[in-house]
Amino acid sequence: MKRIFSLLFATAVLTSSLYGQDAAAEKTSLFRTPVFLQIPSETSIGAVWGVHGPAAGFVEYSAKEDLSDAKRVYACVPPLRSIQDKVLSVRIRGLKPNTKYYYRAATMPVDYPNAYSVKVGEPEFSAVHSFTTMGAGARSSFAVINDTHSELDALQAVDKKLKELQPAVVVWNGDTVHQLRSEDEAIDNLLFPDGCAMAENYAFLFVPGNHDFRGSWVRNLDTVLLTRDSEEKDSKYWALGRNFALRQGDFALIGMDTGEDKPDAHPAFKGLAEFEPYRELQTQWLKETLERPEIKTAPFIVVFCHIPLFNKNPNASRGDSITAAAAWHKPCSDMWSPLFNQYGVQTVITAHNHNFRYDPPTEDRPWAHFVGGGRTLNPKHDTATVINGTVEDGKMVLRVYKMHDGKLFQEFKFEPRKNF
Ligand SMILES: [Fe+2]
Repeated sequence: MKRIFSLLFATAVLTSSLYGQDAAAEKTSLFRTPVFLQIPSETSIGAVWGVHGPAAGFVEYSAKEDLSDAKRVYACVPPLRSIQDKVLSVRIRGLKPNTKYYYRAATMPVDYPNAYSVKVGEPEFSAVHSFTTMGAGARSSFAVINDTHSELDALQAVDKKLKELQPAVVVWNGDTVHQLRSEDEAIDNLLFPDGCAMAENYAFLFVPGNHDFRGSWVRNLDTVLLTRDSEEKDSKYWALGRNFALRQGDFALIGMDTGEDKPDAHPAFKGLAEFEPYRELQTQWLKETLERPEIKTAPFIVVFCHIPLFNKNPNASRGDSITAAAAWHKPCSDMWSPLFNQYGVQTVITAHNHNFRYDPPTEDRPWAHFVGGGRTLNPKHDTATVINGTVEDGKMVLRVYKMHDGKLFQEFKFEPRKNF
């Protein structure tokens, strides 16, 4: 794996100097990475950042830019406030929909030789940034990136384009990495330490790809990429922490997880995978979700999943073979497509193949199917893409930008759903 690491956030040397005993000693930032906003909703948002710990921390936020009436939320392991060596995370709740908030994160060094001599240093603050909560009244805007696979040049091109487009929210549609073998690898590859402060001013919705389930450390991924609170879902769906269904203006954005690209019985999994019941549970959740009033009445429904749900090539591997990795996922398509058809989903945006593709709607498949490009900036191949969704003159507009030159490649327009 190509390791992303930044000199901008060089390793801090935590010494007693941080507590004032040695003023001459070098003091470097306690922030190992910028803040990464994630799992947004109408009333909540998550903030995660890498630290040179051991450290505690908090986020201050306010609707006022000067933070004069800021509320403070600590990183917690209830009922304790967190002390972490590498990553701090905060979930801010009770926010108003479609509201701009200003915030800054703080990291405090902690020295804990024993329970009666704990030392907590002065907080180091990030710069003040802002985010706007989601909601039906919010700006109709999103962007999709995918298959970045830890490729720094692709991430930097994506970062540049996102800063130009200023989407309200970004969907990271899977295969963020090849695999994750340690927490350090997760921090260095997922929390944008290399000058790509992508997620300080808009939040990311994460949709897992098959590679996001690989590596000896990956079962701890929710310390870096948070899962959604159980209170957002009925208890029977608590296993579905990665699924989301959220209004962003006229869009209903729905995240589905196609999981690994081979059947659970594949010998590579050694009996340690249970994607098949997980996909079936998502089908039940999707059925109930599409009946939710705010989703059912959305002018535009866009579904995101990593592995494509359609391929016109009859020889393309379809996810149910023990001998080949999925080029598309027929089992998921068989379960989810009838619901897309029934509820008038217009667009499904997928990833995984690394080559941009557009499959226009047909009579049998009335939803448009997109496959985002990924990974490379080599124009000899089909390059990484950023897909930007907006609503203009009452129509959904999807613009596809290719990252080798950053230019607009194609544009698609869709009418609103009818009879819903
Ligand atoms: Fe993939």
